[in-house]
Amino acid sequence: MENRPQWGTRAGFILAAIGSAVGLGNIWRFPAVAYENGGGAFFIPYLFALLTAGIPLLILEFSLGHKFRGSAPLTFARLNKKFEWLGWWQVAISFVISTYYAVIIAWAMSFTIFSINQKWGDNPKDFLFGDYLQLPATAGAPGGIVPGVFIPLVLVWLITLGVLLKGVKRGIELANKIMIPTLVGLFLIIVFRAITLDGAAQGLDAFFKPDWASVANPKVWVAAYGQIFFSLSIGFAIMITYSSYLPKKTDLTNSAFITGFANSGFELLAGIGVFSALGFMAAQQGVPVSEVVSAGVGLAFVVFPQIISEFPAFNGLFGVAFFLCLTLAGLTSLISIVETYVAAAQEKFKFSRKKAVLIGGGTSALLSILFATKGGLYYLDAADYFINQFGVALAGLVEVVVIAWFVKELKGLQTHANTISDIMIGSWWRVFLGAITPVVLGYMMVQNIITNIKSNYEGYPTEFLLVAGWGVAVTALLVGFVLMVVKWDREMLQFPSKKEAS
Ligand code: ALA
Repeated sequence: MENRPQWGTRAGFILAAIGSAVGLGNIWRFPAVAYENGGGAFFIPYLFALLTAGIPLLILEFSLGHKFRGSAPLTFARLNKKFEWLGWWQVAISFVISTYYAVIIAWAMSFTIFSINQKWGDNPKDFLFGDYLQLPATAGAPGGIVPGVFIPLVLVWLITLGVLLKGVKRGIELANKIMIPTLVGLFLIIVFRAITLDGAAQGLDAFFKPDWASVANPKVWVAAYGQIFFSLSIGFAIMITYSSYLPKKTDLTNSAFITGFANSGFELLAGIGVFSALGFMAAQQGVPVSEVVSAGVGLAFVVFPQIISEFPAFNGLFGVAFFLCLTLAGLTSLISIVETYVAAAQEKFKFSRKKAVLIGGGTSALLSILFATKGGLYYLDAADYFINQFGVALAGLVEVVVIAWFVKELKGLQTHANTISDIMIGSWWRVFLGAITPVVLGYMMVQNIITNIKSNYEGYPTEFLLVAGWGVAVTALLVGFVLMVVKWDREMLQFPSKKEAS
């Protein structure tokens, strides 16, 4: 596209990529996933997934977006018209994620305020599920809208869409330049305080203590790949879109390494901070760390409030800082998630940026209200699990298979990246993507599908999972094929266009 927007600086692009990667996944998901999947031993599958799939895929997506200069659907259509659906599938996955991701940020915003006087009192669990979310006992019916969630949700969407309306450089780049340094600064203060609390060592011990048997468990490997893909924002159109805004002459591979290591560094920091705090709480209560640890929602919104209440001093301040970190990390990721379909709609339907933001973001905002209802948490939990396992990770797998085996473009992309980048990638890159990742991830995916067919996730009723879980994941794929039917403006598909080639 001739008038394609561009990042102002390379640092701006890297900050935005890190802003996308570092998100709720790093703070609320990673520590619990690592702990549940073998503690210290989880680092083996995690590092394997990061080095053989995560960073190589990041290089692949940066190169794809940069070479073909389009949103994910346009990029795949330009690569080979037959595979445009893959781009739309990834965009549809992002669309689904944005609908519930925004709601979690809304909770974090509410909790930033609740932290001031520790509104959760001495029972954060009852406060979260009862007073705040008003969750019914069983999954299935949405129930009415919960105003306490709805109001911050409106604010989340106003900020996100407001930033996106401003465009790539004056919106996304500027927002990341403000939010990411603030996030890192605040987070470092929290982690430093956490590791100096009494009992921190026991927490860290529990976190890093390896359970070697878990390395042989395929479930642990699925968890590691799932974490890496979600956390690095790969497999759901984001990094392709972001790198399409890079200038012609730019580095790709080094930027991918920086983004990948920064994200994992932040993740590790989150693990250290969270487990130090858990160790502190366990010590206060005189129980082992295993009794206070909890996953996802429970960790961030039940255990953390409890820890904040038990802090020796400045409780309110640390509470506000923690939930502000969650809010900031979430917002910079949500912006990148929504940008995938804003860019796609602009290109395919020739919408102006304003129209694409208002229609795309507006639709997602409306749908997100479903998760702001009383039964919303059940829908959120099912959608999150299925769209990650059978959306993000699967789309990442299909992406490498299509590029390495069908269109055979790995070599071309390697040359493209090496021509302009600081760090040269060797044939190892093609081996990781063309052989190791498809085999390992493919095997695990099959195992995982079997497991999920055999037993219902979280014991939810089958009818519920068919709609809120499997239904959501399959619909995202179908949307990919449906949107492929809409014809492109012919000029868009000509690549490089006369102007781009000159
Ligand atoms: N990469 C983002 C996260 O970790 C989506 O939350």
